[in-house]
Amino acid sequence: MRQYIIAGNWKMNKTVSESVTLAKQIVEAVKDVKNTEVVIAPTYLAAAKVADVVKGTNVKLAVQDIHWKDQGAFTGKVSIDMVKEIGAEYVIIGHSEQRQYFHETEETVNLKVKKTLSAGLKPIICIGETLEERNGGILENVLTTQIKGAYQDLSADDALKTVIAYEPVWAIGTGVVATDEQAQDTQAFVRSVMKNIYGESVSEAVRIQYGGSMKPDNAKGLLGQKDIDGGLIGGAALKSDSFFAIIAAAEAQ
Ligand code: PGA
Repeated sequence: MRQYIIAGNWKMNKTVSESVTLAKQIVEAVKDVKNTEVVIAPTYLAAAKVADVVKGTNVKLAVQDIHWKDQGAFTGKVSIDMVKEIGAEYVIIGHSEQRQYFHETEETVNLKVKKTLSAGLKPIICIGETLEERNGGILENVLTTQIKGAYQDLSADDALKTVIAYEPVWAIGTGVVATDEQAQDTQAFVRSVMKNIYGESVSEAVRIQYGGSMKPDNAKGLLGQKDIDGGLIGGAALKSDSFFAIIAAAEAQ
């Protein structure tokens, strides 16, 4: 059985003090959650303070990106050792906003995934198609290219430590959610690509989240799908009650 993983991607929202407040509310809300892995990804600026809040609780810390180099003259970037030191366990990599606005490529995704794994942290690898790509009939090509790119030269053991977040770009922040069936069909396809690369036991074990306008009112239907093992949540993760409602929907499955 794959354990549900619900991760809140706070993006460029919340000041440090607001982040600490929200993290405290979430820690309190989820203190009795037993079966679902709960992860929050604040900004870099807030991450160290949020780390102190979640330490010793059942909330895990993620960051929203890393650089693949260890250190040096890379203005504006943060290395894996820096996020490891504060106790982060997950790194979100290849988010569509990174791909769209900040020149993320298959190659940089792969470098970041390898760096994250080499430090003993776990990548949440984001993939997903635009509406044009879906309507143009190239959905499967796009996802296959993204998966093969991200997992280039990764062993099966390493692949098992990763989480995939399938996020249709047209559903992110738009309020337009994929139907349960669209999401399930695509997630099953993602799993089949993993099966082609790594075989059945790895593909059956790897967790695949859905992301893109997941909210309390649609979480039950989405999380009830066979190949949906959690959610990467943006807007609804910015309030503890809506984030908790999605976690509760996972717990109730
Ligand atoms: P959303 O964002 O839930 O606001 O659509 C999801 C994401 O980008 O991870």
